Amino acid sequence: MKYDTILVLDFGGQYCNLIARRIREHSVYSEIVPCDITTEEIEEMNKTMNVKGMILSGGPWSVYQEGAPKFDPKILDMGIPILGLCYGHQMIAYFSDGKVEPGSKREYGIAYVTINKSVGILKGLGPKEKVWMSHGDTVYDLPEDYEMLAFTESCPVAAYRHKIRQIYGFQWHPEVVHTENGMKMLHNFIFEVCKCEANWNPESLVDKAVKEIRSTVGNSTAIIGLSGGIDSSVATFMASKALGERLLAIFVDHGFMRFGEAEFVEETFGKQGVNVVVVRAQKRFLKKLEGYIDPEKKRKIIGSEFIRVFEEAAKKIDADYLIQGTIYPDRIESGFRKHSDTIKTHHNVGGLPEKIDFKAIIEPLRDLYKDEVRAVAKKMGLPDKLVHRQPFPGPGLAVRIIGAVTKEKAELVRKADKIVTDEIELTGLGNSLWQYFAVLTETKSTGVKGDSRAYGYTVAVRIVESKEAMTAGFAKIPYDVLEKISTRITNELPQVTRVVYDITHKPPATIEWE
Ligand code: XMP
Repeated sequence: MKYDTILVLDFGGQYCNLIARRIREHSVYSEIVPCDITTEEIEEMNKTMNVKGMILSGGPWSVYQEGAPKFDPKILDMGIPILGLCYGHQMIAYFSDGKVEPGSKREYGIAYVTINKSVGILKGLGPKEKVWMSHGDTVYDLPEDYEMLAFTESCPVAAYRHKIRQIYGFQWHPEVVHTENGMKMLHNFIFEVCKCEANWNPESLVDKAVKEIRSTVGNSTAIIGLSGGIDSSVATFMASKALGERLLAIFVDHGFMRFGEAEFVEETFGKQGVNVVVVRAQKRFLKKLEGYIDPEKKRKIIGSEFIRVFEEAAKKIDADYLIQGTIYPDRIESGFRKHSDTIKTHHNVGGLPEKIDFKAIIEPLRDLYKDEVRAVAKKMGLPDKLVHRQPFPGPGLAVRIIGAVTKEKAELVRKADKIVTDEIELTGLGNSLWQYFAVLTETKSTGVKGDSRAYGYTVAVRIVESKEAMTAGFAKIPYDVLEKISTRITNELPQVTRVVYDITHKPPATIEWE
């Protein structure tokens, strides 16, 4: 079945993912593509989906800036409805010979636009709308074949449309919550303008993915790297449903796993009849990390050692296919987001070897976001404990030990992490939180234990709320819960003299400390 689809052309804007998610929330499939996608590439995509609309995202550029990303103007002639947002709005106007003036500074914040004409994408709106704007350049005038739909005092063309073709532009961001009727505007674009059918949901992927695995692998064998996190777990269950005995899941214990992780994986997957081997490689990883303190270096060492261990295990089995739990944001991050910055090198079991000779790599979750993977997990009847598992970084606790890693520190942070996890889960708050964990900082401080002076480690507790980890807020956990966590950590771990709570949002911080 081909689903109606809206493509989001990525100009490096921070809200690109959000636009795609908002569309999916309307039960319409959406995919992010590079901003310079060609008409031929769109035609190719049309073989497996119905491309019914395109959104040109925002981006941190001026149309006059050297090296500013451009789109292929031929896409405007494809007869597919288009909506330009912010930089996208300015680019369309610029390419169509409108008057775009560079701004001397970036303006952002709430603005009130006056709607001139409540038509098409603005149907049912007006006369004044509260919107979120963020821009440097401004569109001042339009060519003959366009008409202005909305304006503000400082922005004479805040929205426009082509008089005949289905081409629209907004200077504001309908995808962010600060635009009061943003969802209505997107709804209008998706259904009034693009005429999409709302029939996509992440669960609809299960049967398709199982069939795809079965037909690709045929009578051969496949392996999967299982980390115990939600993504690789769901991919493992799918693959096991498709292949049964012909699948082998490999769990590499690098020594920086959460408390009881290997046992949890063996038991949970074993019970469901999945073939699992646990490779215990703690010593190898510790040795490789010796003397390194730089977070990026640590991540890279763990990533490449992981590949080596995995390769060795895989070679013994001689499987033809590799299955991975790569999800959609992993692909975007490692793929074509060339106009945005790399914040961290992500290692997960999704970054596995190209060197092993597999006939193919299969990624059944490649089109889903994390919360959509959870919906799939639920639909597949996976145990609640798995459905609501916290995300866990590939390099594990090693990036929650600031600086040099030792066996003792790993033990310490693992125990502290278990206390945080247990206490949060006791309160029943767990399912509403994105992550809750402990970090072993490098700071030592003085304390008093019993009647004597103590000098020990500082543990930081990090608890965040988030929808998809691109932004996050520290959670306002009741003080008595924090008090219990702090008391237990300092009582049960004699090496720790101080516990602090991290009250930083993302941005500016990231969720993990390294
Ligand atoms: P940051 O720290 O970048 O983390 O705000 C965002 C989310 O990603 C998780 N994370 C990782 N996941 N491999 C992964 O699979 C990694 O290397 C990695 N590093 C961070 C992090 O736990 C959070 O949920």
